[in-house]
Amino acid sequence: MPPFLPLTRRGLLTGSALLAGSALLPHAARAAVGEGVSLSAGPARANLAGTGFPDTAVWAYDGRIPGPELRFRQGDTARIAFANALPEPTTIHWHGLRVPNAMDGVPGLSQAVVPSGGRFDYEFPLKDAGTFWYHPHVNSGVQVAHGLTGAFIVEEREPVVRVDRDLLWLLGDWRLTKEAELAGGFGHPMDATHAGRIGNTVTINGAVRDSVPVRAGERVRLRLINAANARVFALDFQGHAPRVIALDGQPVTPHAPPDGRVVLGPGQRADLVIDMEGQPGEGFDVVDGFYPRMAYRLTRLTRLTYGDEAPLRDSPLDAPIALAANPLPEPDLAGAVRQDVVLDGGMHGAMPKSVGPRGPFWALNGVAAMNHQSIGHHLEPLITVKRGQTQVTAFVNETGWWHPMHLHGFPFRVLSRNGRPAEHREWRDTVLLGPRETAEIAFVAEEAGDWMLHCHVLEHQETGMMAVLRVTA
Ligand code: C2O
Ligand code: CU
Repeated sequence: MPPFLPLTRRGLLTGSALLAGSALLPHAARAAVGEGVSLSAGPARANLAGTGFPDTAVWAYDGRIPGPELRFRQGDTARIAFANALPEPTTIHWHGLRVPNAMDGVPGLSQAVVPSGGRFDYEFPLKDAGTFWYHPHVNSGVQVAHGLTGAFIVEEREPVVRVDRDLLWLLGDWRLTKEAELAGGFGHPMDATHAGRIGNTVTINGAVRDSVPVRAGERVRLRLINAANARVFALDFQGHAPRVIALDGQPVTPHAPPDGRVVLGPGQRADLVIDMEGQPGEGFDVVDGFYPRMAYRLTRLTRLTYGDEAPLRDSPLDAPIALAANPLPEPDLAGAVRQDVVLDGGMHGAMPKSVGPRGPFWALNGVAAMNHQSIGHHLEPLITVKRGQTQVTAFVNETGWWHPMHLHGFPFRVLSRNGRPAEHREWRDTVLLGPRETAEIAFVAEEAGDWMLHCHVLEHQETGMMAVLRVTA
């Protein structure tokens, strides 16, 4: 087994402790509003596990866990002057945003790495409103696990959904020792061939939060981001009836989450509208049910704690909650080309030939891609498509594991799962596949260049489960 030393003084994974800092606003990140911001990555210390635990040595954007919330408006141009103060090279990938290829942050594919001490200016127009995020694309399993994650919010040009508060929960998952230091064993084959580096400490905006304050009667937009290396969440907001209004930043027909659970694979986001229908003084748990039988299960994420103030209103706000669609090109299914992607490998799966101690352990269409992140390494494309072409792809998961498959550059519509039409045909940038599941997607290859396609369980990505989609002009 890899080094895995659960914290013992408080059962963090059972959420049993009460934290003195419960008054902390969950929306603690600093918002950088406006078009030009600077951002640096470097070593820092942060209190993740709460009172009574020492700070953890982390890597952070601007010294904060998570990084500053970057907030812009649709139609703006984002300019981010980035400086790398890490002891190793890095890049930033703007997950889910439709950026020009040269701004996509993939080393050796769309840009050179930013060396330690180096700088890079990112600049891109913001076509879509929604909830996005940013993280490195170099040595990702290590850099993301050290804390390099942040939210990137693009506000709607015309706000159409009325809410009382706009909240953000960036979910992090950390594997800490008893002393609250990051456990080693990055890329351990036991993680890489199984479910990835799942941790023992789940944070909301960089800290364990036993309680989140809410007010009776208020309507909240809650933006959820799963920034974990590998953990999947399935959240049940007990006593409440959340409605999903966007997935992976893209508006969707408002609906109740299937089976009452908001499922988020690594990389995925969900925007919810929640009416706080409890009474002053009440409290309701937000519980996670994704891994019912595993040692690393999380039973409670936090608790919505109602203050004593009088309800803001007597009955839920009667106002529309549907967001306006983003200007995405609609796939032309009649004229589509079809190229499927078969996922294989992992423990109990058909391992790719010639496996070393660091893999490859996983493959897409029989090809295991390794080390694209080393400087100058250039992967051969697995799929080539002409610009403007609609492509339909079935991801066929022949493994016994969960894989959130992420495509850079082009949000896609989910057409079907296991042959059954998808109810909402939602736009996504990451589709979560269960064991032996198939999901069919469609997208327009809008922009020429080489774009990554990979599993967002970072330990899977780095041991073979990635590929390049080439869009030719
Ligand atoms: Cu958020 Cu290539 O990843
Ligand atoms: Cu995977």
